[in-house]
Amino acid sequence: MSDFLIDAGWVNLAYVVASILFIVGLKGLTHPRTAVRGNLTSALGMLLAVVATLLANGLDFQWIIVGALLGGVIGLVAATRVQMTQMPEMVAIFNGFGGGASVLVAGAAFTIAAAPTAQMTIATGISGLIGAVTFTGSFIAFSKLAGIMPSGNIAFPGQKIFNALMGLGALACVAWLTVDPSAVMAYWIIVAIAAVLGMTLTLPIGGADMPVVISLLNSYSGLAAAATGFVLMNNVLIIAGSLVGASGIILTRIMCVAMNRSLGHVLFGTLGPSADGPSADDVYGGKVKATGPEEVAMLFDSAQRVLVVPGYGLAVAQAQHVVKNMAGILESRGLTVEYGIHPVAGRMPGHMNVLLAEADVPYEQLLEMDQINQEIEQVDVCLVVGANDVVNPVARTDPQSPIAGMPIIDVDKARTVVVVKRSLSPGFAGIPNPLFAADNCLMMFGDGKKALQELVEALKEN
Ligand code: TAP
Repeated sequence: MSDFLIDAGWVNLAYVVASILFIVGLKGLTHPRTAVRGNLTSALGMLLAVVATLLANGLDFQWIIVGALLGGVIGLVAATRVQMTQMPEMVAIFNGFGGGASVLVAGAAFTIAAAPTAQMTIATGISGLIGAVTFTGSFIAFSKLAGIMPSGNIAFPGQKIFNALMGLGALACVAWLTVDPSAVMAYWIIVAIAAVLGMTLTLPIGGADMPVVISLLNSYSGLAAAATGFVLMNNVLIIAGSLVGASGIILTRIMCVAMNRSLGHVLFGTLGPSADGPSADDVYGGKVKATGPEEVAMLFDSAQRVLVVPGYGLAVAQAQHVVKNMAGILESRGLTVEYGIHPVAGRMPGHMNVLLAEADVPYEQLLEMDQINQEIEQVDVCLVVGANDVVNPVARTDPQSPIAGMPIIDVDKARTVVVVKRSLSPGFAGIPNPLFAADNCLMMFGDGKKALQELVEALKEN
């Protein structure tokens, strides 16, 4: 045991300051300009909360140091090695560990409690339930995103009824534990049922819905942590967990709205190519016009307003710096260059903002979808770089399409559209895109970075 103990008053004061730092940090995260500072503010709050907790309880530091070093090294390696495109996978793993930690901490605290109160018992049951669902659900989500298991929906007959029965069974065990707190076995039955439930709830969800589920699991990990806060009666854990829970739900809602999907559809429906949708041959047959860097460079000669619409392919190609180069050349010739940002372009919220910020693209040039759609007819050349679903006009025109009703950037209404991508392969939703066969559209086939580098060369020679 450590002799280091600080007064409970100071600990609570540190928790209040940490909570304020979390909230100020979250506020900072709402705008790209203040996001880095917001992240650091919240991290400082977490450091303060951790230090205060360590000094409050007269703990034996030996194992804590081993755990902190191990976790710190894993975090450092992950932060430096993981590619931006792998972020959703990494967030999935972190959510899973958060849920797992809540299960173990709540279980351990409950097991050693001399006389658990009703509040502690209920909170322990809820923590075990949500934490275990989060743990296994997140690892299924990770495996799907990382390609370790098929990304589509995996279902078996009667799955919804099975899930409902499992959920009821877990709640019955929470009631059992509440009535008889000495039945520690009930806690581990809750955890076992919830672990299976986490898998059977996540397996049927696939494809483009996966990032939404990760955001939801993120929210669950916060709720599990908040429940564990009630087990330990630790105020800062209750506050931090509630903030994660609430912000995860808000983000889930934003993503559902941007994809025109209800949460119910995401959780219990499927998204994928519809069996009777038009084939790629029907859509493209003989109508696609290929172009090259010289021709595109000439298009800019007579243009005044240029709109770049980035998508997932820009992230894969890491073409953000060369896009900025190209924009610099066009601006030096008096053209206006702006960027149309779709809220779910890429594979995570804010993906395009992060990439363009990496290349120091000024925030004022980033236009949101609703804003640019009002002015898109005035765009002379729209350069779509690695975007597909978020510019697919079938979302507007075909009510049978799996992306029907999803708001898109109406690039097909610009005067000329140039699409940079490697082939006519579909995007995440797996459906053909009639934009590529439109009269005003030219396809510049190639890797995003290489094609734009060639375009920059052609512009310099022009
Ligand atoms: P997608 O529709 O997925 O299309 C990306 C395109 O990039 C592909 O068609 C691919 O075509 C091209 N590409 C890949 N590598 C490339 C490279 N190296 N160079 C050039 N092009 C490359 O992307 P999007 O338009 O950004 O739409 C995002 C999708 O994800 C939507 O369906 C959305 O609903 C879904 N989603 C996103 C989120 C978030 S939060 N962002 C959340 C849930 C779902 P080629 O193979 O022919 O090159």
